Amino acid sequence: MTAPRTFHVKSYGCQMNVYDGERMAELLQAGGLAPQEAGDADLVVLNTCHIRERAAEKVYSEIGRLRREDGSSPMIAVAGCVAQAEGAEIPRRAPAVDIVVGPQAYHRLPDLVAAAGEGRRALDTDMPPLSKFAALPARRKQGPSAFLTVQEGCDKFCTYCVVPYTRGAEVSRPWAAVMDEARALIDAGAKEITLLGQNVNAWRDDDGRGLEQLIVALDRLPGLARIRYTTSHPNDMTEGLIRAHGEVEKLMPYLHLPVQSGSDRVLRAMNRSHGVESYLRVLERVREARRDIAISGDFIVGFPGETEEAFEATLEIVRAVNYAQAYSFKYSPRPGTPAATMEGQVPPPVQDERLQRLQALINAQQLAFNRATVGRRTSILIERQGKKAGQKIGKSPWLQSVHAITDADIGSLVEVEIVEAGPNSLSATLPAPRAESRRSAGARASQMPAFAGAAS
Ligand code: 5AD
Ligand code: SF4
Repeated sequence: MTAPRTFHVKSYGCQMNVYDGERMAELLQAGGLAPQEAGDADLVVLNTCHIRERAAEKVYSEIGRLRREDGSSPMIAVAGCVAQAEGAEIPRRAPAVDIVVGPQAYHRLPDLVAAAGEGRRALDTDMPPLSKFAALPARRKQGPSAFLTVQEGCDKFCTYCVVPYTRGAEVSRPWAAVMDEARALIDAGAKEITLLGQNVNAWRDDDGRGLEQLIVALDRLPGLARIRYTTSHPNDMTEGLIRAHGEVEKLMPYLHLPVQSGSDRVLRAMNRSHGVESYLRVLERVREARRDIAISGDFIVGFPGETEEAFEATLEIVRAVNYAQAYSFKYSPRPGTPAATMEGQVPPPVQDERLQRLQALINAQQLAFNRATVGRRTSILIERQGKKAGQKIGKSPWLQSVHAITDADIGSLVEVEIVEAGPNSLSATLPAPRAESRRSAGARASQMPAFAGAAS
């Protein structure tokens, strides 16, 4: 096989995988390869996810689909969490795969590509914490909203979750590395930075500084308009971080705080190390700090031992919180995790039925939240062109997609009035500027009244 000249990276799963996919693309481009559509690329990187369902099976069928009409295949690299979990098993089952590279080793992709070009099969699933970041090239120009990984891995060992095994132990990137990357992203045009980590709010540096101090430092960077962070664990919502939601201007009023279940018994079986009351108390304090904050979450239904009563407790916590948005999943046994062999596995039809009920409730809350923003004046960050002439699509402070007719450039912040709301997007108009609102345009989504119905 000859050395590839073009590549395509396909990322599945979470935002951290999207970030990793971007970094792999930057790395390959720095090595002289050009991006290309999947069908025509010499090298295809499948950046896989292992969190749920038959992840490995999906990867194998995707590999099969890469075969060209003449029977040949591009050079194929399997990256991400399936690569980490399955390792050498992948080329054994799918001989078309040339490279297997784990999430902590992808800085070595150029060497692995060179080895594969010489006909050697290349595998690297080492987990040297953090060394990849130092070996990656500078950030390149990209859209107005950028991801920045500050923390990786997890020590919490929830009994359903593969992350502690595929991403390794919890590690935080050093302060200076994060600030340098943030500056490079801003120089490359980023207006919004989302700090990423499996447990991002557990970020801590060697001097004992926590995420809120990082956020305060980012807030001072000229050119940056918005800061977000995800995903957080309830136990790591420190007093300081909660306070930052009320004090830091650029920190957007949105918090993704998964709880997974509304039953204390199920939470214990999940090894979540928090209960329903403590979760609700954290949200109460966050809402005291920032009354218009939008709350988002993750839920697992049909965890082993989840009775109808326990599931109803989940519906109950959803009603109590009143989410702006939430993700819900059927429990999926992950090989090697404790829950996979627990008694009381819930039959798929029961899981399906519960998922439907939960999603109906969540969808209704999301629509109600979106409707409650109608009539508000707020800023949107323009991210891309819409389908209609003159239409642009941006994000509100509450992470909603907002359509507006405006000639404002991509990457600008525009003050709008929300006029219509659907389940997944909003429409806005550009109001005549008011003296007072002109002052508050810019980065600041000034504190708004709490949303009607938000329990606190
Ligand atoms: N089955 C179903 N959902 C899962 N998640 C993590 N592991 C599993 C699993 N084995 C969900 C959790 C987590 C989100 C990223 O994925 O809700 O917060
Ligand atoms: Fe997985 Fe739990 Fe860690 Fe989140 S906190 S990554 S769900 S083990």
